[in-house]
Amino acid sequence: MTAAPGRANSTIGRVVVLLGAPGAGKGTQAQVLSQKLGLAHVATGDLFRAAVRDGTPLGVTAKGFMDRGELVPDSVTIEMLLERLAKPDAEAGILLDGFPRNTAQAGVLDEALAAKGGRVDIAPFIEVPEADLVARLGGRWICRAQGHPYHELTKKPAQPGVCDVDGSELYQRDDDKPETVKARLRQQLGALDQVVSYYRDHGVLAGVDGRVDIDKVTSDLLEVIVPAIQSKG
Ligand code: AP5
Ligand code: MG
Repeated sequence: MTAAPGRANSTIGRVVVLLGAPGAGKGTQAQVLSQKLGLAHVATGDLFRAAVRDGTPLGVTAKGFMDRGELVPDSVTIEMLLERLAKPDAEAGILLDGFPRNTAQAGVLDEALAAKGGRVDIAPFIEVPEADLVARLGGRWICRAQGHPYHELTKKPAQPGVCDVDGSELYQRDDDKPETVKARLRQQLGALDQVVSYYRDHGVLAGVDGRVDIDKVTSDLLEVIVPAIQSKG
């Protein structure tokens, strides 16, 4: 994946980094918030899944790590993210979902944004206990076309197996198998703690209770995001 020649953007608008453990609800919220706020939804997991589906060299590299519940190496992930940030739609601002996953990625993001005159405006952290994450991921179904997420108990589609939004088939992600979910949580929660501390130290962290229903999480997120991005100088 490469940015179109001559179209790489050199500025960037508002930047929101949505933080949360696997299954906390980042994708669910990012799809709604990006629409409401007019920000491009940039999800590194979605970019990797598209590469796996298309059988690209990036997808072949990423798949082994994803299947083992490990983070894909920074060298690969950062290059992919920087190419995505260079696309024209990022100029209006971005909502990041799944990046950064460690402090090295957070540092590179800060540098890349600074080069475009931007910064992370707010990093909302959707907090959900580990026991709930296992139940959420085990019952999740997502749509083939655009990754809209559903849950067999808490967010059922109107018609079983069919996406309400675009009519595509629903499927379960390979990394939502019970053993892979355990590996993802075991291997990734420590790095998430460090990223949370990083943004707390930078004064942009905002914790939000992720245990309440989806609409309530959305309104709580808007309460912290809107003032932060409106106040941008
Ligand atoms: P990625 O796709 O980013 O997965 P993740 O972070 O593990 O998070 P999920 O997508 O599983 O969960 P989510 O928080 O989006 O929850 P969702 O909204 O779907 O990454 C996948 C893999 O790619 C990684 O493991 C890694 O290998 C690699 N990767 C990606 N980015 C990387 C990076 N930067 N560096 C290195 N490697 C990287 O919700 C989950 C379920 O809960 C759904 O069923 C939903 O309906 C339900 N739900 C949501 N909210 C609620 C609620 N409030 N109440 C009840 N149910 C709810
Ligand atoms: Mg997601």
